[in-house]
Amino acid sequence: MTLILGIESSCDETAAAVVENGRHVVSNVVASQTELHKRYGGVFPEMASRAHIRAITPVVREAMTQARADWEDIDAIAAVYGPGLAGSLLVGLNAAKAIAYARDIPLVGINHLEAHIYANWLVPPGETEVSWPPPPFPLLCLVVSGGHTDLVLVEEHHQYRRLGSTIDDAAGEAFDKIARLLGLGYPGGPAIQRVAEQGDPEAFAFPRALQVGPYDFSFSGLKTAVLRKVQALRRQAGEDVGRRGVKLAEAGVDAESDLPIADLAASFQAAVVDALVSKTVAAVEDHDAVQLLVAGGVAANTRLRSELQHQVTVPVRFPPIRYCTDNAAMVAAAGHFRYLDGRRDHAHLDADPSLHLDHV
Ligand code: KG4
Ligand code: ZN
Repeated sequence: MTLILGIESSCDETAAAVVENGRHVVSNVVASQTELHKRYGGVFPEMASRAHIRAITPVVREAMTQARADWEDIDAIAAVYGPGLAGSLLVGLNAAKAIAYARDIPLVGINHLEAHIYANWLVPPGETEVSWPPPPFPLLCLVVSGGHTDLVLVEEHHQYRRLGSTIDDAAGEAFDKIARLLGLGYPGGPAIQRVAEQGDPEAFAFPRALQVGPYDFSFSGLKTAVLRKVQALRRQAGEDVGRRGVKLAEAGVDAESDLPIADLAASFQAAVVDALVSKTVAAVEDHDAVQLLVAGGVAANTRLRSELQHQVTVPVRFPPIRYCTDNAAMVAAAGHFRYLDGRRDHAHLDADPSLHLDHV
């Protein structure tokens, strides 16, 4: 039996969690900075780092208290050291180093993307060890977050082969940018999903960018297509009002609110999901994967979940939403398997903002 304390601070969530045997969440504490970054429409790195410094000690203490764990019970401290924002990563990593040193507990450095993948090992509330068995290998994992969009073949624990990636924006980044364009706020993914429920996914035929490599993605053309459509619709709205002989402002008409936001959001979301699903289906079939895991913040998307479930021929697993977006339970789960594998880190482990999955 292992009890691992996980620590995560790579972006805008300060998180700590205690996990038993890499599978059972004993405590899971996340301090989100969403409110702080909302007014900037994205993460403001210096503010993120300062907020992590304020939150890290209370968050770790709370995770230990909720777990009713003593330091002697903890077998290892698993901390994310990359990829992510340098100033953010350093806070969690340094806290982990300090505790590990002071309490003489082994330190295990974890790749944030690996942690997202291992969220799929965590037994969700209401499931059991039997109903939610450990995923079988070889498996394919679609990692879709704010910073990454990768198709990864996992042949065994810690054996990764990246089959493809985005050549420009990450899927989550595209959601965030289009949400900003449509005035829907931050974070964009959940906002677009909510608004898209009222819209027609076929209202606008946005490009799917399928002509890049067989397992690669591209979202910049889609982003431009949505921008052009919004500009054209705005012009049209302005002209319509102009034709009635009234200036926009005088008429009290906000061209923006005249936009078919729900249809735009639904059509954009459908285009992203189609691109993700078609490449994933091909990768699963070409590599004889026995299961598909979906990981990262965009794995929370309901349309992506249902389309993958319908179109992929092997069983598909998604973590519960709370383990899809950044959290430390997934870090502790990954930490369990790395710890068993013998990985140990020391004070010289440095934050690596551009750490790759195949270089862990
Ligand atoms: O994995 P994550 O929490 O942080 C990173 O490691 O980047 O992912 C955050 C991303 C954001 O871009 C957010 O807009 C997106 O995940 N996201 C979603 C949804 N929930 C979060 N995208 C689409 N649909 C959602 N329901
Ligand atoms: Zn993440």
